[in-house]
Amino acid sequence: MSLLHCISSRGFPILVEAASPICQVEPRSHSIYLFYQLKDCQYNTINSQSISKYMRILHLSLTNFRNYVRLELDFPPGVVLLQGDNAQGKTNLLEAIYYLSRMHSPRTSVDRELVNWLAWKEDLPFARLVAQIQSDEQTDQIELSLVQNSTGNVDVNAVGVRKHIRVNGIPKRALDAIGLLHVVLFLPQDINLVDGPPHLRRQYLDDTIGQVDAQYCRELQHYHRVLTQRNYLLKSLKGRGYDEAQLHFWDQRLVQHGAYLIVRRQQVIQQLDEFVQRIHPQLTGEMERLRLEYDASVQLERRPGTAYQMALPTEPGTDTASASTRLQDVAALFADQLRAMRVKEQEQGISLVGPHRDNLRFLVNGVDMNVYGSRGQQRTIALSLKLAEVEWTAQERKDKPVLLLDDVLSELDAAHRRYLLDAIDQAQQVIITTTDFTPFNEEFLSRATLWRVCAGRITTSMTNSQ
Ligand SMILES: Nc1ncnc2c1ncn2[C@@H]1O[C@H](COP(=O)(O)OP(=O)(O)OP(=O)(O)O)[C@@H](O)[C@H]1O
Ligand SMILES: [Mg+2]
Repeated sequence: MSLLHCISSRGFPILVEAASPICQVEPRSHSIYLFYQLKDCQYNTINSQSISKYMRILHLSLTNFRNYVRLELDFPPGVVLLQGDNAQGKTNLLEAIYYLSRMHSPRTSVDRELVNWLAWKEDLPFARLVAQIQSDEQTDQIELSLVQNSTGNVDVNAVGVRKHIRVNGIPKRALDAIGLLHVVLFLPQDINLVDGPPHLRRQYLDDTIGQVDAQYCRELQHYHRVLTQRNYLLKSLKGRGYDEAQLHFWDQRLVQHGAYLIVRRQQVIQQLDEFVQRIHPQLTGEMERLRLEYDASVQLERRPGTAYQMALPTEPGTDTASASTRLQDVAALFADQLRAMRVKEQEQGISLVGPHRDNLRFLVNGVDMNVYGSRGQQRTIALSLKLAEVEWTAQERKDKPVLLLDDVLSELDAAHRRYLLDAIDQAQQVIITTTDFTPFNEEFLSRATLWRVCAGRITTSMTNSQ
């Protein structure tokens, strides 16, 4: 017995490894203890429309972050419109907020790029981001410092930075700080989610789910470690016949962590799909019906006539037993398909089945928009997805996230702009960047707080007639 069925931080049952050695992952044949409770995560029946709590940033402080050498900024509730010419710091501000939420940048994986260039001339180069946030009557402070990794390296470009995170003054690991501040960010390049390669959509799912489910982050981390080891083994065995015992060892771990990812992705896509079915017609004047479809690498249904059919509950209130059954079923299917791929994987020296090969499809009236969508359609789909993410996050977290929209209106035609502005919940904290105010109607402008940014300095004392 080496797999135990436990409860994740979000109340979702997971498979975890116990102290004993390798176990067999066979359909229904392995004995698994089930300890779980379905609290709020599994199928949430809250109607997000009725959610009246809002996550809010109260104050943001930046030091040496991108072109912000020093910034102290109080945030009002509701909509903020940040106007500035090109290259003044609009996206940088949203990036800083996103970074404090997800502990990584949406634009780069190289943290040293985030530190202000001039700071590298100082003895101890660093950047610091601090946010005071409010959620459900509770106020927290998230502090993130990027400090130079090593001294004495003459080549500044080769120097890395280390991340230090504190929440309310207490040091934390990134995994434990992700999602404390929950935000949804829309960047112009998010159109790539629709027209780009599958790995961008997997990354999006991982980021989105990881924000509300810490267990998902851990499973993902384990899965990728195991995948690397398994690929290394397959590569080393290529052309030399296979070592069944070793492969079996890695298969089990791959299945153990991968099953959780698959079940969670399937569940979240289903939930996002319900939201986009309502939002997308609103954004397109009822012209288009959008559906999200999970294109899982592991075939999630057995062919009729085989031993059993998978239980895929879709209704709220589904009981705990079927949730655990589902996880076992997916694990069994995954294990079966790994076995079926043995020879092919040996030949190619790489893992050919698993969540690392998943895809997400956007279908408008049944047509795949990755292949056939126009630019305008793809952009609107990306936007619908993000608005669905707002609703989904609100449902999962019980309060609405901060919405960050980077220069989104300039790309939309007049009708889509109107639909979007109407869709914005004025009570939610929303930060919209723009180069000019022309796309916004007067009513919207009169209710928003207007700020201007110039060369990394933000002026907050604009009147609404400026
Ligand atoms: N590490 C850094 N240190 C200093 N400046 C930086 C750093 N990284 C980027 N910048 C600069 O910050 C400036 C503002 O960038 P940002 O992407 O925020 O512009 P923007 O206002 O969004 O412009 P646009 O309207 O063109 O999108 C750019 O000139 C960029 O070169
Ligand atoms: Mg920008």
